[in-house]
Amino acid sequence: MEIIKVKDSDELGRKAAEIVIETIKGKENPVLGLATGSTPEKLYANLVEKCNTGEITFKNAVTFNLDEYVGLTIDDPQSYHYYMDKHLFDGIDIQKENTHVLDGEAEDLQKECDSFEQLIKDAGEMDLQILGLGLNGHIGFNEPGTAFDSRTHIVELEQSTIEANSRFFESKEDVPTKALTMGIGTIMDAKKILFIVQGEQKADILKAVVHGEVTEDVPASVLQQHPNVVLITDIDI
Ligand code: F6R
Repeated sequence: MEIIKVKDSDELGRKAAEIVIETIKGKENPVLGLATGSTPEKLYANLVEKCNTGEITFKNAVTFNLDEYVGLTIDDPQSYHYYMDKHLFDGIDIQKENTHVLDGEAEDLQKECDSFEQLIKDAGEMDLQILGLGLNGHIGFNEPGTAFDSRTHIVELEQSTIEANSRFFESKEDVPTKALTMGIGTIMDAKKILFIVQGEQKADILKAVVHGEVTEDVPASVLQQHPNVVLITDIDI
């Protein structure tokens, strides 16, 4: 794992954007895996800016988001659909039909997961997967105990994740208890992973992820087994 230490979230956003741009430039049809949450916000702001100045184009890019809550409409401000439009898609020249976010309102959720997997397969390998880290070690919504070979699936969110994410909702009761997520196996198939982690509150879990045992109890520890991970963090590890 390559580790890039940054001083703050501004530098993290800039460095992460550089890596995304490096990956996209020169590729005919770049395939990107995207994350939501507070960590990638500055990365996306940088990409919007670079696209507007003509430094980069997303015209032929294809994207797949890691996860989505079950039960929120796509225009609900807390849905990851809404987040992606607001922070990235509406600000860049991507073709909307090339962006894929799981449908948490699908009638048949398992079928939705299976067709998402198929779409990723059809797009070819993911050139770059952007990943954040949950306080409990989750990646996507793969909570502790998820099998390392899992594919896109339905999850029951852990109480700790509901609590951590309640900061985006009016109350804890409003946070959905279920979500759809790419599996850990799906994530590990990406050619390269851009792992971005910020904030002292994640210091202990990040140390366990990078230096600890590779175990399904700490989902992100699987990244130790991936051949091409770049970690950008403001945490001393
Ligand atoms: C979001 C996702 C989650 C977040 C993680 C960290 O799409 O997949 O795993 O990356 O919960 O979230 P933040 O960045 O808000 O601390």
